[in-house]
Amino acid sequence: MIQLSGINKSYGTLKVLSDISLTIGDHEIVTVVGPSGAGKTTLLQIAGSLDSPDSGTVTYDGVEISRLRDKQLSQFRNRNIGFIFQFHQLLPEFTACENVALPALIGGLSRRKAMDKAAELLDMLGLSSRINHKPGELSGGERQRTAIARALINEPKVIFADEPTGSLDSKNRDDIRNVIADLRTRLGQTFVIVTHDPHMTTIADRVVTMADGKIVSETVRRSDIITLEIEEDKTELTAVNDIAESENNC
Ligand SMILES: Nc1ncnc2c1ncn2[C@@H]1O[C@H](COP(=O)(O)OP(=O)(O)OP(=O)(O)O)[C@@H](O)[C@H]1O
Ligand SMILES: [Mg+2]
Repeated sequence: MIQLSGINKSYGTLKVLSDISLTIGDHEIVTVVGPSGAGKTTLLQIAGSLDSPDSGTVTYDGVEISRLRDKQLSQFRNRNIGFIFQFHQLLPEFTACENVALPALIGGLSRRKAMDKAAELLDMLGLSSRINHKPGELSGGERQRTAIARALINEPKVIFADEPTGSLDSKNRDDIRNVIADLRTRLGQTFVIVTHDPHMTTIADRVVTMADGKIVSETVRRSDIITLEIEEDKTELTAVNDIAESENNC
């Protein structure tokens, strides 16, 4: 479970987030919607440990991530969190397979194992014939699915996505939505998705609406997540307790 409590963030005199509190349950798909400039990306980056709040806390299963040191935080992020960005941010000089394998290599997997796992994931996402293509040789939808595979390779507990369908046509948007819904059902991952896509809310358990740096409403679309039949629960937080303990020992 991820808990944000009393989060404030300003850039200079511009107050971007005001006293935000939000709980994200395991296996939930939460979408964050609201007008441009509302603070959605800022909130996602803070929840995903890529940015720090001025005040307030972010905890993962009770462990406050601001207490982790830089190296521990990177390790925690690498093992437990996946990111999908609007413009996928794939490395242009590497193939789809190499791009997907990268977080696993950083996490310490051998090149052979990382590449095999990347190929498997790309296959699962319907890209088996594209694994050796570079991003410039892929369509927008294929690039976005490659970015999803990259976010999944370390089997993270939670995936943060910032407008994952923002640059896609309606057919590819449908495909990505289905992939996300299917992944949650099969692997039990938690998804937090910032989106302007009105259809994305159809796969959401909860819709959080932001305006002017505040949460103005939360709509529960389904509350039976707990009884969801997850086929394979890969979502245990592997590193957080070890990391927190080693922090306490320092
Ligand atoms: N690094 C920064 N420095 C200064 N201001 C920033 C910075 N990042 C974001 N902002 C400002 O903070 C506000 C919230 O930005 P944010 O990117 O979180 O909005 P958003 O809800 O994601 O918008 P959009 O839907 O357009 O992506 C905006 O007014 C933006 O200009
Ligand atoms: Mg944004």
